[in-house]
Amino acid sequence: MKPELVTDPAEWQARCISAREGGARVVLVPTMGFLHEGHLSLMRAARRRADEGGRPGLVVASIFVNPTQFGPGEDLARYPRDLDGDLAKCASAGVDRVLAPSAPEQVFAPAHQTWIEVTGVSQGLCGAKRPGHFRGVATVVAKLLNLTRPHVALFGEKDYQQLQVIRAMVRDLSMDVEIAGMPIVREPDGLALSSRNAYLSKEERERALALSRALFAARDRVAAGERDAGALRAAIEKGVAAGVDRVEYVELVHPETLAPAVRAEPGTVALVAAYVGRTRLIDNVKLP
Ligand code: PAJ
Repeated sequence: MKPELVTDPAEWQARCISAREGGARVVLVPTMGFLHEGHLSLMRAARRRADEGGRPGLVVASIFVNPTQFGPGEDLARYPRDLDGDLAKCASAGVDRVLAPSAPEQVFAPAHQTWIEVTGVSQGLCGAKRPGHFRGVATVVAKLLNLTRPHVALFGEKDYQQLQVIRAMVRDLSMDVEIAGMPIVREPDGLALSSRNAYLSKEERERALALSRALFAARDRVAAGERDAGALRAAIEKGVAAGVDRVEYVELVHPETLAPAVRAEPGTVALVAAYVGRTRLIDNVKLP
């Protein structure tokens, strides 16, 4: 069954709150749309989490290309969109209700003047390369959580730093919601699924494999005994650079603080951002 589409955030809020007050377990999956299997894996997991109390809960998803998380010169204007296709995919994944505001002003009114700034974990990696990005993410996610009041909200580890920023915000502001992180879904050849993969030409798509290949090779080296973060970083950088047009960063970090790691310990995360043509791609793996 097609999910019910709500475009007005105020109506959405009233209805989600009344569902919760009526006893439903509410689970939210925030997205920017142009859905792929990565998003759908979150939605299927949301279905399971919503129904785990023994009675059917409410699975809700948001589709909103949040302008406040895009910097000047980034891809806001050309970000891919397909609301009809997305609704059909939501239906197949068991989503009951979708919030898709018809205009950005419905979420960020002209008078909007409140921003959430998560400091520590926002600062390196993508935060250093995309000033203001995580301020936009934290603010819209806080707003979506307030509009929905879910018991659980699901996020992918694909956007690893984003997940840590959201966890920090929820912890620091005592927000009453469980944040659940979900594993990265990949193409059979290893490429992490992303809405931005739609920008890649066939030739770029092939070169984009350098990210996951270099990360997997590093994982294998750690499994074989390598612990030196500098050596691993250099090897990943070399592997990624061989395929992409520009490596933005390669880092090995602590899984929660995101502080740079000197040695690869169990759980250390290796992260990469790089450009293939005009397309910016990110990927990461947890080291064994
Ligand atoms: P978007 O890029 O649409 O991603 C929505 C959710 O899907 C995020 O939690 C993201 O980590 C997850 N996701 C994307 N690709 C994935 C993959 N290959 N495997 C698993 N999960 C994947 O992230 C955003 O939107 C926005 O920043 C948002 C949180 C919605 C705030 O605007």
